[in-house]
Amino acid sequence: MKKILIGIIGFGNIGKKRLEAINKLKKLAEVKIICEKNKIKKQFKNIKIFNDIKELDDYDLDLLIICTPTDVSKKIYNKFVGKCHLLIEKPITLNSKQLLKNIKISNNKKKIIKAGYNLKYDQGLKYLKKNLESNFIGKIYYCKISYANGTARSNSNNVGSIFDMASHSINLLMWLFNSKKLNVINSCNQKNEFSKNHVDNGFAILKIRKILINLHHGFCNWKNKFNIEIYGKKGSLKVHSLAKWGDQTIITEKRVFPSGNPRVKIKKFSNDLSFKNELHSLLETIRDMNKLKYQDIKNINYESYYTLKNSILLK
Ligand SMILES: NC(=O)c1ccc[n+]([C@@H]2O[C@H](COP(=O)([O-])OP(=O)(O)OC[C@H]3O[C@@H](n4cnc5c(N)ncnc54)[C@H](O)[C@@H]3O)[C@@H](O)[C@H]2O)c1
Repeated sequence: MKKILIGIIGFGNIGKKRLEAINKLKKLAEVKIICEKNKIKKQFKNIKIFNDIKELDDYDLDLLIICTPTDVSKKIYNKFVGKCHLLIEKPITLNSKQLLKNIKISNNKKKIIKAGYNLKYDQGLKYLKKNLESNFIGKIYYCKISYANGTARSNSNNVGSIFDMASHSINLLMWLFNSKKLNVINSCNQKNEFSKNHVDNGFAILKIRKILINLHHGFCNWKNKFNIEIYGKKGSLKVHSLAKWGDQTIITEKRVFPSGNPRVKIKKFSNDLSFKNELHSLLETIRDMNKLKYQDIKNINYESYYTLKNSILLK
C-alpha cells in the first residue's frame, strides 16, 4: 500500500506533536518535508527542512498539516485549498465566509479540510461518549463544561479564549450530543489581561435541543483545567482533567431512586493518545477516499465551519 506523504508547516509545540504521532503510524504515512521559519537544530532522516512555504511547490504531498498560529494559518492555507488534504490547527481563521468558500472548493476537489480539534480523540472523552451512546444516564438533562488555562500573559495565538478554548468545547459538545446546531441563551465575557481586541474569560448558557449547558472558557485560571459533567435521568458522567496532563479521572454514577448517593465507578487514564488517534482516523479517511461519497466528504469538511459559526455566537 502506498504511504500517505505529509508536509508540516510550523514546527513549534504542536508541529512536534504531529510529527511524533505520525512516527507512530509509519505503516500508513510518512513526513517528507517540514517548513519552519525559525532554524531547526535537529536533523530528521528522510525529511527535507526549509523555511519558505514557496518551496512547497516542488513537492507532491497528499496531506499538509498547518501548525502555525491562526494569524499565519489564515493567510497561508488558501494557497493549498483543493490541491491536497489539509489538517489545520484550530481555529483555521475567524472569517467564516472565507472558510465556507474554501470548504466548497475542497468538497468539489474531493479533498479533506479539517481543523485540529483533538478532544474527541482523548481516551476519557471517548469513554464518556461510549457511555452516553449506551444510554447509561438515560434522558440527558444538563451539562457543565469548563476548559481554561493560565495563559492570559503568554498566549501567542492572538484570537482570545472564545476561539482558542471555547471552540474546543463547542466542537466536543457538537460531537457528544450529535448536533450542528447550538442555541446561545446568554454569553458574558471579560477582557482582563489578554488584549484589547479579544476576551480572556467568559461564561455562556447554551442549549442543544433541550439539553441545558453551562460553558466556561478562559486564560485566567492560573493552571490548566478541563472538566465536563453530564447529568441525566438515570445518573451522571464526569470527566476531570485530560489524559495529556497525565491524571484523568472518569466517574460514572448510577442514580439511586428516589434519592440518595449514586453508585459510583471510577476509571483513570494517563496517556495522551489524542493526536495519534486523530491522525489515524484522518489517514484512514484519506486512504479510503475512493470509497467515500460526496456527502461523506461534505460532512467531514463542514465540521470546522459549524464549530466556528457556533463559537462566533459566544462573542
Ligand atoms: N489541538 C490542541 O490541543 C492545540 C494546543 C495548542 C495549540 N494549538 C494550535 O496550534 C497552533 C500552533 O500552536 P503552537 O503552540 O504549536 O505554537 P508555537 O508558537 O509553538 O509554534 C508555531 C510555529 O510556527 C512557526 N511559524 C510561524 N509562521 C511561520 C511561517 N510563515 N512559515 C513557517 N513556520 C512558521 C513558528 O516559528 C513556530 O515554530 C495554533 O493555531 C494553536 O491554536 C492546538
